[in-house]
Amino acid sequence: MKDNRNLELIKERLNILDVVSTYIKLEKAGSQFRARCPFHNEKSPSFYISPARGTYHCFGCSEHGDIFGFTMKIEGLQFKDALKMLADKAGVSLSNFRKEEVGNVLDILENTTIFFEENLKNNIDAQNYLKSRGLSTEIIKRFRVGFAQNDWRTLYTYLQKLNYSDEEILSSGVCIRHEKDNKVSLYDRFRSRVMFPIMNASGKVVAFTGRIIGMDEGRDEVAKYVNSPETETYHKSSILFGYDKAKMEIGKTKKVIVVEGQMDVVMTHMAGTQNVVAISGTAFTPEHISILKRFAEVVVLALDSDKAGYNAMLKSASLALQSDLEVEGIKMTNKDPADMVKTDPKMWDEAVKNSKPILTLIAEIIKEKESVRPKQIQLMRKDLFPLLRVVKSPLLKQAYLQEIAEILNVAPNIIQEEVDLIKSELEGQIKKEKKIVPKIDILTIVAKGKAASEILKIKLELDMEEIPDDILNKEHILLEKSLSEVKAGDEKEKERILREAIYLAKKVIYENAIMIAKNKIGEGVDMEENLKIIQEFSKKLKNI
Ligand code: CTP
Ligand code: MN
Repeated sequence: MKDNRNLELIKERLNILDVVSTYIKLEKAGSQFRARCPFHNEKSPSFYISPARGTYHCFGCSEHGDIFGFTMKIEGLQFKDALKMLADKAGVSLSNFRKEEVGNVLDILENTTIFFEENLKNNIDAQNYLKSRGLSTEIIKRFRVGFAQNDWRTLYTYLQKLNYSDEEILSSGVCIRHEKDNKVSLYDRFRSRVMFPIMNASGKVVAFTGRIIGMDEGRDEVAKYVNSPETETYHKSSILFGYDKAKMEIGKTKKVIVVEGQMDVVMTHMAGTQNVVAISGTAFTPEHISILKRFAEVVVLALDSDKAGYNAMLKSASLALQSDLEVEGIKMTNKDPADMVKTDPKMWDEAVKNSKPILTLIAEIIKEKESVRPKQIQLMRKDLFPLLRVVKSPLLKQAYLQEIAEILNVAPNIIQEEVDLIKSELEGQIKKEKKIVPKIDILTIVAKGKAASEILKIKLELDMEEIPDDILNKEHILLEKSLSEVKAGDEKEKERILREAIYLAKKVIYENAIMIAKNKIGEGVDMEENLKIIQEFSKKLKNI
């Protein structure tokens, strides 16, 4: 299964001197070449290249590797992209390689699913957890639920034994690349988690999502769910969890019930409702809609009863209404559908039977939430009336108007007036925004894109899932603001801002990593590992 023919071919065709010399100046030193190291600051050259071996080594900072390692490091690329770049340079076509690679990646994902399923059979705690959530043995089998042990490399070792290469394993997303003291190693992405395979429309496993169980559960810095990254075979925005098992029933009933989480899908399927899929904690995407439109005419939203669920309901309803789908909602009297089924499956059946047009449901929720009339109306103006605007069919709109008027106990034309008012307010706002926003020239946009990719690179390079996105977003917003204030054409100033933003982003990331590690030590978790992390990131912090 291991196929490194293309790697060898690229290495044969590309001399390490050619690759390295496009970035730095080399001088001859005996049978070797040397240069000032591009990876650390130095005055006299200690970066040596051996053309015979095709490798480099820095005696100053101990960086070493081959053309692939060098390109990854200096371009800040993942292996796959460095491979593409060098293949282009060498004139090697990767098309065969890539086809085989995708095949192998799917094999890896299938084998991983089997591995997790076996783990579950051997782990009483995980079995008990699933039982406590209400899952039957039959449904566990049907959804191929499994378990990832609380270990760093059991899956990796297993996949190695099956002869998959590191590149293939990384491409499948189940392991994470780690570089420490110049040694590259892989470790398992999912640990101490109940594992749900995510299947594509034809039932092939393309990714995983894992829910934490055990002593880490409930700890703030441990994510409740960890998901596979985007890969060649997995594009988050266009996958609906459970779609492969729901599509027959969706076709039959022309209806799809949309829930938030995996547990909701599994539990409702167990209760006999088979046309349920999950958006996995986000709102609908246009891709989701176009998949569902193949079979469904009605979308029934059954999202969590918390604030996030309410907001996702508003967003999803808007998108679905704009796509001319009929939209209904299920009144959520429990935390979420999984909770409802566990409490009483009959209650879930009833709730499904009593689904309502989404605008009616939202009006009712608002009425329940706000008993003071002016506040009620304010909330309707904010959440409900904008949705009325996107209903295209005049007849349907009329029906909704009447229904809401009845709930509010006013004449329908008053509501229509409100909707028209919102429309003109919105248009006014858009005009005003257009006036305020200064013209941004193309170069600014390019600079912004560069900064975004730089920041993303840092994040990928460190593989720090624990660094929250909003930290990076904050830097990014600051950057956008500063850039938009610079006069068009002032390239030097833009470069300066860019450098500063990247510096700040790095600083924030490193400081956060240190803080997280310190907290862990404070709690007595992985002392040795975290001490090393602190050392490593303090060094990085000093050298930015
Ligand atoms: N989710 C995620 N990452 C998180 C939290 C949530 O990807 N850190 C996604 C998961 O797909 C999850 C969904 O958002 O199923 C809904 O989130 P939430 O309601 O918090 O989770 P539940 O499904 O209710 O989880 P559980 O019942 O297991 O506590
Ligand atoms: Mn939930």
